[in-house]
Amino acid sequence: MEDPDVPRGTIVKVRNCIGFVLLCSKFGFRESWPFMGKIISVANQKGGVGKTTTAVNLAACLALSGRKVLVVDMDPQGNASSGLGVNLKENQRGVYELLADDLSLELVVYPTEIDTLKIIPSNVELAGAEIELVERAHREKILSTALNGVTEEYEYVVIDCPPSLGLLTLNALTASNSVLIPMQCEYYALQGLSHLLKTLQLIKKSLNPTLTVEGIVLTMFDNRTLLTGQVESQVRNYFSEYLMETIIPRNIRLSEAPSHGKPIVLYANRSKGSDSYVELAKEVIKRTKGEMVFPKVEPQEIAYEEWIKENKLRDFSKK
Ligand SMILES: Nc1ncnc2c1ncn2[C@@H]1O[C@H](COP(=O)(O)OP(=O)(O)O)[C@@H](O)[C@H]1O
Ligand SMILES: [Mg+2]
Repeated sequence: MEDPDVPRGTIVKVRNCIGFVLLCSKFGFRESWPFMGKIISVANQKGGVGKTTTAVNLAACLALSGRKVLVVDMDPQGNASSGLGVNLKENQRGVYELLADDLSLELVVYPTEIDTLKIIPSNVELAGAEIELVERAHREKILSTALNGVTEEYEYVVIDCPPSLGLLTLNALTASNSVLIPMQCEYYALQGLSHLLKTLQLIKKSLNPTLTVEGIVLTMFDNRTLLTGQVESQVRNYFSEYLMETIIPRNIRLSEAPSHGKPIVLYANRSKGSDSYVELAKEVIKRTKGEMVFPKVEPQEIAYEEWIKENKLRDFSKK
């Protein structure tokens, strides 16, 4: 017996809708349903390890696979912005205004050469944010609040972090579902890595309980040097569970691309560097399958002070 209160047309519509969802899941049209994107921070407190190169090129490869992607440039140096050909003029608004003036997202999102890739660029004002934002309530969650709802529109949001563990990085990690850690195979890298993983534990405990490590990706890999091999095998020994399969080789094309304002896939599509970032994007997509809907866990309150102490940073709230 059909329920007389429900018109027949409605039942047919609901049935069609369920059929469509089943079809999508079968053919992998969407990784999961209901759709919810993923926010990935690219972070490492060390400078020059390939964070920006990874953020820009991973985002570009994800976007060229037809997914809607947003890059958030959290580094006041603005390298991700210029690397994607976006250079803010003095009167244009970017990440700083999003954070400091609570601007809405659409006012700070800019297009790039790739249709499905957008960016919230940074400008030099962002350098002052570390000090200014300290006075704000819930200072660790300003970015997270500003990005509210962004994963309903974008399948991947890639945040390029500055080379420090200050308030900007703390905001990025609090807003993220996972962290991708680029690592250069050099002598001090392992030390820095242990510290970073410990720091991530602190955020998980306090601000963002669902934060995961997306993986460690070895960058600027040059297997002709002995040290590279030694560091690689150390990482394999101690952090094998986190290590991404894809390794990014040292490739001159990757270092040339930013000066042309292009990601490697548009600048030198046939290079080893380009191939490696395509592989990395595939790996990230594969890892994301089936884990896009996150359980809602209420975090406990932190702890900016705890963070400052743990990372031996200067506390800007104490004048
Ligand atoms: N795989 C690579 N091969 C060659 N040069 C690279 C590679 N990755 C990054 N670079 C270059 O190394 C420098 C530092 O990289 P960058 O991504 O800016 O690091 P970070 O953002 O961690 O400071 C840049 O000049 C960049 O062009
Ligand atoms: Mg950088």
